[in-house]
Amino acid sequence: AFVVTDNCIQCKYMDCVAVCPVDCFHEGPNFLVIDPVECIDCTLCEPECPAQAIFKAEDVPEEYQDYIGINAELAQHWPTVTEKAPPLPTAEEWDGRPNKREWLVV
Ligand code: SF4
Ligand code: F3S
Repeated sequence: AFVVTDNCIQCKYMDCVAVCPVDCFHEGPNFLVIDPVECIDCTLCEPECPAQAIFKAEDVPEEYQDYIGINAELAQHWPTVTEKAPPLPTAEEWDGRPNKREWLVV
């Protein structure tokens, strides 16, 4: 499965949502996750993310391995999102900041 990682937090650009053929994105206040059970590994979302926050599970950087579990867990609690909405107003300012994990709102 593909995994949304750290740099999505406080950005949530949402370009990924528009291309997923199986609607496996789930939305929280300042982050999106992918349901690993639903994801068919089509690869379409990865290049769409302006924040380069999406990785194939096998390619998630070492420091962001915990996001594999975070996606699986939060996908069970957050609602499905299928329509692209505007990015968060904080997107530009927060894009590229490392280790945003402590700002994740669940
Ligand atoms: Fe959806 Fe394809 Fe991305 Fe999986 S890899 S989340 S199926 S767009
Ligand atoms: Fe997040 Fe990138 Fe999608 S910032 S909402 S994973 S386009």
